[in-house]
Amino acid sequence: MNINELAIYSFRNVDELVLDCNAGFNLILGPNGSGKTSILEAIYYLSYGKSFRKTQNAKVIQHGHSSLCVRAILSGEKHLGIQRHSNGSMDLKINGELAKSKADVASLLPIQLINPDSYRFFDDGPDWRRKLIDWGLFHVEHQYLSVWRKFQRLLKQRNAALRKQGVKYDDLQAWDVPYVELSNAITSLRQGYVELLQNKVIELSKAFNFFADLSFSYDRGWRGKLSEALYSSFVRDSILGYTQKGPQRADMKILVNGHPAAHHLSRGQQKSLVTIIKLAQAYIYKESLNKSCVFLIDDLPSELDKSNQDKLLSALSDLGGQVFITAIDRNDLFSHDCFKGLAPVVLNVSSVLV
Ligand SMILES: Nc1ncnc2c1ncn2[C@@H]1O[C@H](COP(=O)(O)OP(=O)(O)O)[C@@H](O)[C@H]1O
Ligand SMILES: [Mg+2]
Repeated sequence: MNINELAIYSFRNVDELVLDCNAGFNLILGPNGSGKTSILEAIYYLSYGKSFRKTQNAKVIQHGHSSLCVRAILSGEKHLGIQRHSNGSMDLKINGELAKSKADVASLLPIQLINPDSYRFFDDGPDWRRKLIDWGLFHVEHQYLSVWRKFQRLLKQRNAALRKQGVKYDDLQAWDVPYVELSNAITSLRQGYVELLQNKVIELSKAFNFFADLSFSYDRGWRGKLSEALYSSFVRDSILGYTQKGPQRADMKILVNGHPAAHHLSRGQQKSLVTIIKLAQAYIYKESLNKSCVFLIDDLPSELDKSNQDKLLSALSDLGGQVFITAIDRNDLFSHDCFKGLAPVVLNVSSVLV
């Protein structure tokens, strides 16, 4: 799916911006503070209904305005729109009709983001890694979303039951049979995806001259049988008020030459590996659905050196999907064929300022 036309209103410093987008590469240039990241953020916001920056949602709305709006016309004439008001309410629309859920919009506009936060994938807690696996399954495995939603609902109910005064283990029995079933279903889908991802990453890492000895493993979030793990952790769970054992605590471990990637790789190498992982996801997506996702790459020159930029741009050309790349100066970018004849969107600090 491509964005043919993008319209952004009252989003950070972008007062009003309407862009005709290329189906392939789109280059956004401008000095610091001109709004490059904000344009990528607006596309992401349209898909996810939230920002990728650590920011409160209301802060994204332009100062002095009461709402923001992002609209896109996709290939196939699908119209998507999001409007967010300062009171917190949000309207998501597909072809002018209110969307039933955020997931309906996200599935029409699958996004891969590569930005200066990417290295946190290794350094931070397991949340980022779980989200990455869930992204893949959400887009590729149709039954995943419904299993995941049922599990989230059940987990909430179980946690609420755990917080009740004087709760006994027997009180939880009603939740635990479906809890174990859904946990196992999520685990088996995630394990399958992690294996697929590992194989694709190993294949791609050759083109990047990256370490060949890579292994990905899925840590499901408990040891032994889940029903027994729930029983053993009941006392502590009831003190904490939430369930500690289950797929909500899962993680993906990545070893390079037998060592955890977070410790073994330099920051630059971590950025390369995250880039390869995101490309691998896009290949898996394309091979499964015969469609491409949209890549948002913020400040490419600060993410990758020129030799890795060349490899990434070649892989993206091969994938054939839509790509939005930002940079301060064109000279900082590797001069790849994908930029030949391309007219960049050039921002200056005043062009989008209120
Ligand atoms: N809610 C807001 N309203 C108006 N301007 C904002 C808001 N939030 C951030 N900004 C400003 O938007 C500008 C653009 O930021 P950014 O998109 O990060 O630029 P770039 O990526 O080009 O460096 C910054 O100068 C920032 O101060
Ligand atoms: Mg920026």
